[in-house]
Amino acid sequence: MLRAISTPSKVLLTLLLTAGCRHPISDKPTGSATSIEAPLGLPPVPIPGDNPPTTATIALGRRLFYDTRLSKGSFLACSNCHNPRYAFTDGNRLSKGFDGALGVRNAPTLLNATYLPFQFWDGRALTLEQQAASPIADPVEMNSTHKASVARLAGDPTYGPAFTQAFGTPDITIGRVTNALASFERTLLSGDSPFDRYQYAGDKTALTPAALRGLAVFLNPMGGNCASCHTIGPKSALLTDGKFHNIGEGASDNGFADVGRYHETKVVTDQGAFKTPSLRNISRTAPYMHDGSLKTLKEVVDFYAGGGNSNPYLDPQMKTIHLTPQDRLDLVEFLKSLDGSIPGKAGPP
Ligand code: HEC
Ligand code: HEC
Repeated sequence: MLRAISTPSKVLLTLLLTAGCRHPISDKPTGSATSIEAPLGLPPVPIPGDNPPTTATIALGRRLFYDTRLSKGSFLACSNCHNPRYAFTDGNRLSKGFDGALGVRNAPTLLNATYLPFQFWDGRALTLEQQAASPIADPVEMNSTHKASVARLAGDPTYGPAFTQAFGTPDITIGRVTNALASFERTLLSGDSPFDRYQYAGDKTALTPAALRGLAVFLNPMGGNCASCHTIGPKSALLTDGKFHNIGEGASDNGFADVGRYHETKVVTDQGAFKTPSLRNISRTAPYMHDGSLKTLKEVVDFYAGGGNSNPYLDPQMKTIHLTPQDRLDLVEFLKSLDGSIPGKAGPP
């Protein structure tokens, strides 16, 4: 007989009922959002509504990024493979994970990864939050389980206050861990390169004559045609179109050593297609390509001059291009002019 219950007792009843059921722990940051300034040449930083970066989540993410306890046996931190000394790559052809297990792909830089519409060479994650959950449980990377990683972190009493500052309560959840990691990664920005000062700040002396000639080859559709995929916009340049292309890297008569984007989409023409990487800081992130098979920028330019290894799904933008020895040197000089600022407060805390 609900009608017989008076209003005050109804309130009491609701209170009793809600106190009895456990609320799920929220992964949303509680502090006020902090703005992240993009350096010259980069667009504004995209901020997800459910994970606005705060000073506390960024600091916590930085700490987690360098914490080996995320991995089984506490051997590996994110920074082992994304080391600030190598512009957040590891300098190896393929990454070494748990117990020295060799991965199948080259570690990409995390600088400016926040702008990418897809994460990973094959785009299997869409956001930094989603991405961060993956290496922790990957058997050839950190080889842990989310539960075990959370338990190891919980063993450190100094994490409780840090999670409280960031998320309001000391609870550690994998969602909080990945949100904090993603917020830290959003601060890993690099712009203000000689190219940016030339292109976006009107400093006509910022590029050497060789780099300027290289830029012309890079832009020319009948020349290098590089900008058709490594995009340069009117106000900013990510040097990637964020899309997937088969440039014939890793293709041979025996097919593809790595099917790339096809792995995700199962669309036949996606075989051998990989995400266009940004070219910012490229001189600092050798070796190159998804399989790390090209050692120097000279080798990369020679590869493009050959039009890429022929295969049925080769991108139509890939054609044999005529590049003189001087063009090739100039292109390399231009690529070096894309080395930009290194973010402060990004090293081990
Ligand atoms: C054992 C080495 C290793 C460890 C440890 C590792 N990564 Fe990676 N990371 C890689 C490799 C290799 C790839 C590319 C894999 C692929 O595309 O299939 C990658 C890709 C990424 C990407 C995608 C970037 C892009 O341009 O697509 C992000 C972001 C990233 N890692 C962040 C992290 C974070 C955060 C951690 C720690 C939780 C971490 N990584 C731990 C090796 C590692
Ligand atoms: C059809 C699109 C396309 C064109 C045109 C193109 N690229 Fe690429 N570029 C890519 C893709 C996709 C990758 C990654 C391929 C892979 O790993 O298999 C890549 C990789 C690279 C890399 C290695 C980056 C890294 O982090 O390992 C460099 C350097 C590069 N390109 C420079 C150039 C230059 C210079 C030109 C012009 C001569 C050019 N690209 C033209 C799409 C393109």
